[in-house]
Amino acid sequence: MCGIVGYIGRREAAPLIVEGLKKLEYRGYDSFGVATVGKTLELDKHRGRISGNTKSALRLKGKIGIGHTRWATHGIPNDANAHPHLDCSGTIAVVHNGIIENYSELKRQLTARGHTFRSETDTEVVVHLIEEEYGTKKDLLAAVQTVVPKLVGSYALLVIAAKEERMIVARNASPLVIGIGDGENFAASDMTPILEYTERAMFLEDGDIATINASEVKIFNKGKQVSRPLELIDWSLEDVKKGGFTHYMLKEIYEQPQAFYNTIRSVNSDTLPGFVLNPTSITVVACGSSFHAGLIFKYLLEESCRIPVRLEFASEFKYYPPPIEGLVIGITQSGETADTLTALKQAKAHNCRTLAITNILGSSVSRLADTTIFMRAGPEISVAATKSFIAQLAVLMQLVNNISGRMCSDMLLHAHQAIEEILLIDLTDAVAACTGVKDIFYIGRGPFYAVALEGALKMKEISYIHAEGYAAGELKHGPFALLSPETPVIALCTPGETYGVMISNIKEVKARGAPVIAVGSEGDSELPDIVDIFIPIPHTSPSVQVLTSLVVLQLLAYYTAVALGRDVDKPRNLAKSVTVE
Ligand code: G6P
Repeated sequence: MCGIVGYIGRREAAPLIVEGLKKLEYRGYDSFGVATVGKTLELDKHRGRISGNTKSALRLKGKIGIGHTRWATHGIPNDANAHPHLDCSGTIAVVHNGIIENYSELKRQLTARGHTFRSETDTEVVVHLIEEEYGTKKDLLAAVQTVVPKLVGSYALLVIAAKEERMIVARNASPLVIGIGDGENFAASDMTPILEYTERAMFLEDGDIATINASEVKIFNKGKQVSRPLELIDWSLEDVKKGGFTHYMLKEIYEQPQAFYNTIRSVNSDTLPGFVLNPTSITVVACGSSFHAGLIFKYLLEESCRIPVRLEFASEFKYYPPPIEGLVIGITQSGETADTLTALKQAKAHNCRTLAITNILGSSVSRLADTTIFMRAGPEISVAATKSFIAQLAVLMQLVNNISGRMCSDMLLHAHQAIEEILLIDLTDAVAACTGVKDIFYIGRGPFYAVALEGALKMKEISYIHAEGYAAGELKHGPFALLSPETPVIALCTPGETYGVMISNIKEVKARGAPVIAVGSEGDSELPDIVDIFIPIPHTSPSVQVLTSLVVLQLLAYYTAVALGRDVDKPRNLAKSVTVE
């Protein structure tokens, strides 16, 4: 899940690569590095984040360059383990996103043949292997073509060498896009660093190796030249800028009305195949927030259609596959989460039909699944998922309508208005109650249990406060032992069948001395009197209240994290796209 970017053309490469890496930092940010080819090959790499640390990288000369921002897997974050990695002679440089699984054996062989390793990374074997082949073949493309079949694992590789007026790139199971400019070309993990220069892109397939110079791109697969479709990317540059907001996360929370509006209108039963519209049973595989979206879907679909929905953590599915049949849905905003991809492959191996739900055109999941529904959330830069989550729910709620043969309700079609309204809510008291505590519990029932899980995830990942979501009835089976005046409980208590039992749960919590912050319908006459802080949301349908209560919890996490001085967009130890198991 590192970010990589490469450039070849008429401009100085280093400033462009540095700017590109800043946009890719959401993929990992524990170290970064740049290499360029001008008169010679030059390298600059450091532990830590790129912001404020770019002076020496910007001094590199040359109109060809590659860069990398790292999320460490093999070797701690330090200068030596930062990419790019060089061969023994210092004339070939490689950046890599992915994992070389057979690196130990390759490293042992290379060391025995006299190569000197400077890092603990898996990646460094690649550049030494290329060094050997380049030495004999004198052709960088042929060298990479010979090395790639020896690698087991996942990789998006960018390779440059002194005196070579080209960049060689290769892809297997890690995303790699080539941006086609005018007298200049780009390669990167995704379009965000490229959008400023071109909207034309080609997405490489597994096994593709390409040679790129300033005016030409040639792609090969299994030694034969192939072509990949030229796609026009309709994301605008403004989408990847902060646009006056202090953080990307806040900007993306504010973009949710639009993301929901665009997405719910784009999902249409006319474009969906029969195996999606008429399933006998459904299994959902996903990770993180996408898993929570899957849980909301399970509640909504089972309630409206009585079709059983099984929900599995994608990371468990590979090793403990349940008996599966019918439709398998992989939900992944990035389209690159390794566990979700593996789970879908497994589903295909069991002859299941597969549907992917993703935000990224050309992503791995869209090439793997039988059919894909794309959300219309636009690029999401902040590590914590917000608008991609709301857009996933737009797809899934519309899917529930499509499968049940119902029209999308007016309330849902206008949910963007309710979401917009809730953005203005004043959370000062709730933020004050959360700032300074060590633990927070979130409780809800049915789909609001999933909202509780997602709210707690948002809180813990960006504020670093320990937060847990529970099905409201479960709190008394253990967690009650932890309740005290220092453990706020956030209760989702909206009108409906479970309102009464939620009120009882809240009273039980209060009786144990824990303060309660309740999210409920405006105009509720009972709730405000029994809780410490009442947060009203518009009185609409349950599905729309799922959306608005989610936004409340996103904002609560955001403002709490800001109050605590956290690095909201780049929380410690995390990455947006997890391309390792
Ligand atoms: C990472 C991100 C989460 C995300 C999860 C699944 O952990 O930090 O925000 O929910 O991956 O990502 P996906 O791209 O598959 O939805």
